[in-house]
Amino acid sequence: MELEQLAAKVSEIVQEAGNLIKSIPRPQVYTKEGHANFVTEADMASQKFLIEHLTPLLPDAYFFAEEKEDNQLAPGWNWIIDPIDGTTNFIRDYKASTISVGLVKDGEGVLGMVLDPYRGELFTGIRGQGAFCNGTPIHVADVPTANALIAFGTAPYYQELKEATFAMAKEVAVRCGDLRRSGSAALDLCHVAMGRMDGFFELRLSPWDYAGSSVILREAGALIGTAPGREFSYQKPQTILAGAPKVYSVLEEIAGKHCP
Ligand code: IPD
Ligand code: CA
Ligand code: CA
Repeated sequence: MELEQLAAKVSEIVQEAGNLIKSIPRPQVYTKEGHANFVTEADMASQKFLIEHLTPLLPDAYFFAEEKEDNQLAPGWNWIIDPIDGTTNFIRDYKASTISVGLVKDGEGVLGMVLDPYRGELFTGIRGQGAFCNGTPIHVADVPTANALIAFGTAPYYQELKEATFAMAKEVAVRCGDLRRSGSAALDLCHVAMGRMDGFFELRLSPWDYAGSSVILREAGALIGTAPGREFSYQKPQTILAGAPKVYSVLEEIAGKHCP
């Protein structure tokens, strides 16, 4: 199947998963390993639905999904799924949560889809064919660094990263325009891709947090990568930096000073 055809089918599945999570407004909540880390029955239901419906599209593909055990990137096709990105927001009905699906082939991101079910915005990136929001092409902004809006994540589940996170945030706040924190990394990354924000950093994210949006960002003319001197991959948790090219180089320089 061509990537474009595949994208059309995936978009229907992701939209249905969006309706599914919105139909569970007061979910059962369970705790997970790490500081203030939760999972809900809606995360589980969304993941089950996505795996069941994506499986027939590419029967040989593996699944790397947040609420699944033993995640390993396999050779060939891999779906990388965050069934709800922004679970804490979801529990508190803050309405800033997304569903993120990335498709990685032999280590390369080829398709990305992120749904914001509250604004009704579906972000898509198809390798070599562009990035879109609800079908309209999107592109990263070109704002001078001194005015740039930078989204960031606090690496909430890792207390040992708080010191470095806020040291970096302080330096970014001094050198750029201002900071924002939504509570969904995938949402922030898509907002960078469409020019609502100019950059993003978080000292530790997992592949499901950024796989879908990585393809959207690259296709929208933005850069995504990790701390200087390390190798970006879809295999393991790592620092994530993203942004319009000029902003990205500033974030990279600051990350070089603060990333442990
Ligand atoms: C989290 C969100 C949050 C980010 C965390 C992620 P989850 O994902 O993206 O914004 O700061 O690092 O883990 O746990 O809600 O899927
Ligand atoms: Ca996540
Ligand atoms: Ca999640």
